[in-house]
Amino acid sequence: MEVKQVKLVYFSPTGTTQRVLEGIAKGIAVQDVKQINLTLPEGMQQAIPPFSDELVIIGAPVYGGRLPIDAIKRLKNLNAYNTLAVLVVVYGNREFEDALLELKNLSIELGFYPVAGAAFIGEHSFATEAVPIANGRPDSQDVQRAMDFGAKIKNKIAVLNSPDVQTDLEIPGSYPYEAGGARPMAVAPVTMEDTCTVCGTCASVCPTGAVSVNGSVATEIELCIRCCACIKNCPEGARVMEDSKWKNIATWLNENCSIRKEPQLFGVKV
Ligand SMILES: Cc1cc2nc3c(=O)[nH]c(=O)nc-3n(C[C@H](O)[C@H](O)[C@H](O)COP(=O)(O)O)c2cc1C
Ligand code: SF4
Ligand code: SF4
Repeated sequence: MEVKQVKLVYFSPTGTTQRVLEGIAKGIAVQDVKQINLTLPEGMQQAIPPFSDELVIIGAPVYGGRLPIDAIKRLKNLNAYNTLAVLVVVYGNREFEDALLELKNLSIELGFYPVAGAAFIGEHSFATEAVPIANGRPDSQDVQRAMDFGAKIKNKIAVLNSPDVQTDLEIPGSYPYEAGGARPMAVAPVTMEDTCTVCGTCASVCPTGAVSVNGSVATEIELCIRCCACIKNCPEGARVMEDSKWKNIATWLNENCSIRKEPQLFGVKV
């Protein structure tokens, strides 16, 4: 089989998953690459035609060793018929536990044939300059790994006669899932009003519509999934984590997850 078109389908509040997927697509080296970004609330409403003979690369971050609930909700709108899929999770240098297995199981439910999978590392959502956790990742080395992975996927598909003839893809993880997912904490970033210019960026990047800007910034705490998109995109550094439990988690991650992990690839020869 020849890969003629690649579609990147992702939920990626702080952009690391998107960057990994773009690296993989570069390695596959086909002209026709389309992006289906499911991150924003509009992602829920998009009418996405069923996939057929394109190659679909599905990516999501790891939240509490699982897929983010909002990623699952959006991915459940997809349908595929005889479509090969590459499954990618991106995690913040702690662990990815059951997330990639969950993505594999979900993709099969949606009608995909998973051909390969990977767990890459991205800067942790909770990381700051003062409390770094995998800061700057995916870096150039990770992007090179992503491109090599893309090239290997292309070679693997080249010798397949049809999407359903490949052998089962082995992905680590437990089923029933053991990882508990991101625990609800009823906290959200706060806005430092003295530095906020009311530019509205935080509202425009929030995947759950938790932020509204109308003369000042208001946040609906119950809707916040702690993705940190508003913190990382605020041009004034005016959105911050203030909650002490949340800050303690970031400090723990900084102290205990600082040894560099490397991407893991499944379903291709490494
Ligand atoms: C609520 C929440 C839970 C997270 N849980 C994990 C985790 O279990 N393991 C891990 O290594 N990283 C975890 N992360 C970090 C993200 O997986 C990581 O930063 C990822 O690169 C973010 O992807 P994005 O840039 O596409 O949003 C978590 C992040 C958030 C916001
Ligand atoms: S992005 Fe920052 S400066 Fe802009 S409205 Fe939000 S908090 Fe204020
Ligand atoms: S308010 Fe919460 S959910 Fe919305 S962008 Fe900020 S951290 Fe993410």
